[in-house]
Amino acid sequence: MCGITACIGTADSVDPLMSGLRRLEYRGYDSAGIAVNGPNGLSLTKRVGEVSELATAVEQNPLDGTFGIGHTRWATHGGVTNENAHPHTDEAGRIAVVHNGIIGNFQSLRTELEADGHVFASETDTEVVPHLIEANLRDGATPEEAFRAAVGRLSGTYALAAIIGDEEVIYATRSGSPLVLGVGDGEFFLASDVPAFIPYTDRVVYLHDGDYVVTTREGYTITDAAGRPVERSVETVDWDPETATKGGYEHFMYKEIHEQPGALRRTIHGRLNPLNGGVELEAFPPGTFADVEQIHLVAMGTSHHAGMYAASLMAARGIPAFPFMAGEYAVTVPPVTPGTLVVAVSQSGETADTLDAVRRARAAGARTLAVTNVVGSSITRECDAELLIRAGPEIGVAATKTFSSQVTALTLLTERLAEDVTGSKSGDAHDIVDALSRLPGDVQEVLDTATASAIAAEYQDSDAYFFIGRGIAHPVALEGALKFKEISYEHAEGFAASELKHGPLALVTPLTPVFAIFTGEEDEATLSNVKEVQARGAPVVAITGDTDGEISEFADHVLAIPETHPDVAGVLANVQLQLVAYHAAKLLDRPIDKPRNLAKCVTVE
Ligand code: F6R
Repeated sequence: MCGITACIGTADSVDPLMSGLRRLEYRGYDSAGIAVNGPNGLSLTKRVGEVSELATAVEQNPLDGTFGIGHTRWATHGGVTNENAHPHTDEAGRIAVVHNGIIGNFQSLRTELEADGHVFASETDTEVVPHLIEANLRDGATPEEAFRAAVGRLSGTYALAAIIGDEEVIYATRSGSPLVLGVGDGEFFLASDVPAFIPYTDRVVYLHDGDYVVTTREGYTITDAAGRPVERSVETVDWDPETATKGGYEHFMYKEIHEQPGALRRTIHGRLNPLNGGVELEAFPPGTFADVEQIHLVAMGTSHHAGMYAASLMAARGIPAFPFMAGEYAVTVPPVTPGTLVVAVSQSGETADTLDAVRRARAAGARTLAVTNVVGSSITRECDAELLIRAGPEIGVAATKTFSSQVTALTLLTERLAEDVTGSKSGDAHDIVDALSRLPGDVQEVLDTATASAIAAEYQDSDAYFFIGRGIAHPVALEGALKFKEISYEHAEGFAASELKHGPLALVTPLTPVFAIFTGEEDEATLSNVKEVQARGAPVVAITGDTDGEISEFADHVLAIPETHPDVAGVLANVQLQLVAYHAAKLLDRPIDKPRNLAKCVTVE
């Protein structure tokens, strides 16, 4: 949700800024802009549309600067216009600011500044910041004091980077929105996410809320709001710059679907013990969860579907487990006890609703555990413990490999919880560990033998697309529908198969293909539902490992998955549905990696 980037110390700042923006475009793509400072002072270009529009403008009118800031926008306050695009400046155009987040008290600040004679050029919340800095400078503050004092007036969420006058310095801070510092040799970068600067450096400082960074070409200092130095370690990330490029694929989403075998190998690496059917999670030795009485899984969107999947696995092992849409957690007010473990599932680790649920859970005395893909993300800092899913960077807005890795990591967690909470491993722990160790290869088999493009073509003129399943196949059905609708813009809905007769069946016609997910459990009942929709003329695509039995006999088409343990089969079925959604969207020529109105990281509630 908006991406910011900044660099200083490079011979030319335009290339790193533009490359950073291209790599951050998954965070928002309504408009983009950069401001650089060099021999001719501050120059700024911004354009409505994708970063490519900005790139064309910069090619036509090159900018010259040795340090600068950039922004790619997902509009919150104010329409998608050049004026509302970042960077925002003071009236004289000497102070430039980029911002990710929402400044809650911007209206009162703006009223106050306007009363003092400030004239605003945009409708954004952000523009108050350069005006505040300018007012502070006028009152005699140094640039750093002016920046700090301006930030001190803000409430809400922000990651901010600013250049002030001709001073070769970048000022930055964060509170509730992500910001990382890239440490190169005599060159430094700031960005919302690591991929922005990975071609330049792999050394990263994960900044915390309340950190202020002052960066020059000589180095950087990090202090707290009171100006006291704070120690933050420099970590090395092992990302190949290629991981943040399409690497020959037409879309990031397709690349990321195909990266799943590798992602899953990383998720399970060192965590399975096939000899004793055990799961070994370094940070959670046996007994870690012995006092846990119930689990709440809080998450949004795709991550919520992973949470539902896990809750189903946990419940089947006798662990009281309940999935919640994080955004509803405040409203439903579930009973949280000291024996409650709240598991926050979030790919980005920055989702505002999920962070809010974590804060509520902590305030109520619960233990919290983050299951995330992003090292150093806000959620890892707010939770008591973390379990990394290790899927690698995901750039496509539609989550694919991270869902598979989330479900897999949560399956591992389930096995650990089963042992700790119920006092014994789940009955078929050996089979599950075996199925998990085969999972990367099984996903590869699905990818190698995929026929999803033919299914997408066959049903491309349908009225709507329905997805049904029972047990863990229910969240897979919801996820299949979410993926389909978000990238194809077609009407797609997922249902518990048992729910069909209680309303949704009225929607079923010969022009509504039904994707039925079979995992090897409750298949008979789902097959009855298949027959019910077929009786209303709907074609049925079965996703199943039972390729020569009754299911295949009745289905109009089969998308096959390798036979495996039912608890793991949902991951394989989901890969087939990712492929169907991808090919359907491709046939419709949709902007698959950047679906309209969406952004990868939703840092506002
Ligand atoms: C859909 C999708 C979203 C996210 C949701 C939560 O493809 O990606 O539904 O799953 O916005 O995001 P995270 O996992 O970052 O908390």
